[in-house]
Amino acid sequence: MEMPFALTGKVALVTGGSRGIGWTISRALAAAGAHVVINGRDAKALDARVAELAAEGLAGSAAAFDVGDEAGIVRAVEQTVERHGHLDIAVANAGINHRVPLTEFATADFQRVLDVNLNSYFILAREAARPMIRQRGGRIIVVASMMGQIARPGIAAYVASKGGAAALTKALAVELGEHGITCNAICPGFTRTDMTQIMQDNAEVTTWVESRTPLRRWADPREVASVAVFLASEGASYITGHSLNVDGGFAINA
Ligand SMILES: NC(=O)c1ccc[n+]([C@@H]2O[C@H](COP(=O)([O-])OP(=O)(O)OC[C@H]3O[C@@H](n4cnc5c(N)ncnc54)[C@H](OP(=O)(O)O)[C@@H]3O)[C@@H](O)[C@H]2O)c1
Repeated sequence: MEMPFALTGKVALVTGGSRGIGWTISRALAAAGAHVVINGRDAKALDARVAELAAEGLAGSAAAFDVGDEAGIVRAVEQTVERHGHLDIAVANAGINHRVPLTEFATADFQRVLDVNLNSYFILAREAARPMIRQRGGRIIVVASMMGQIARPGIAAYVASKGGAAALTKALAVELGEHGITCNAICPGFTRTDMTQIMQDNAEVTTWVESRTPLRRWADPREVASVAVFLASEGASYITGHSLNVDGGFAINA
């Protein structure tokens, strides 16, 4: 039986692809055969990532912009389609957290987290949907979080944005299904990246994560990236509107 997980000839755009989960997804998509347009705010860091891909014989290019800037997303999708003729996979991944007690949570900080973690996902999906509708197919992958299904104190904006991202995924799926476009969310658990470095550095928090997670450890970003490759592939052709937890069982552990 043929294993339909190759992405040969596909073009992908990954927001927040310079570090952490987004970089690992970018590399995994490229390793599966896609040309990956990697986004982030730091142009030099992106160029270094593109060079890393090239050194492995993989195809990628950089698109430096802040996902809080709508015009940046619009331009990146347009340029990708101009250069490659198509856009097959859009991964909405760029994300930030802001950790502060609710009573000290400034409205501007709440808004900033929503702009990056949710509004940019909507804008990317809308812009990517246009060429995908013309192509009669595509994959939209949203990186949400188990912290959208469950919550922890001090991260109200993050939890709201991630719950919203999973709900947005369903809205996209029901609207875009007739065009052959699937839309799914990945919900990682605690994953070793820069975002969680402050938690990893705290022995008490690390022990808590390990003891609460049925698999008794943190996730490696590669364990999230492989799921993105699956969702982007023909192997996931009949899956849409789904939120797939990659959390070592954390969210179902009473
Ligand atoms: N790590 C976890 O435990 C975990 C768990 C569940 C979900 N997630 C989600 O997974 C996604 C990736 O998280 P991560 O842990 O890999 O985070 P990370 O290590 O902090 O990396 C974040 C990435 O997003 C980019 N980014 C941040 N703000 C941006 C902006 N305004 N415009 C463009 N790019 C921006 C960063 O690049 P620049 O700073 O160079 O722009 C970087 O490439 C996020 O959506 C996060 O919420 C993470």
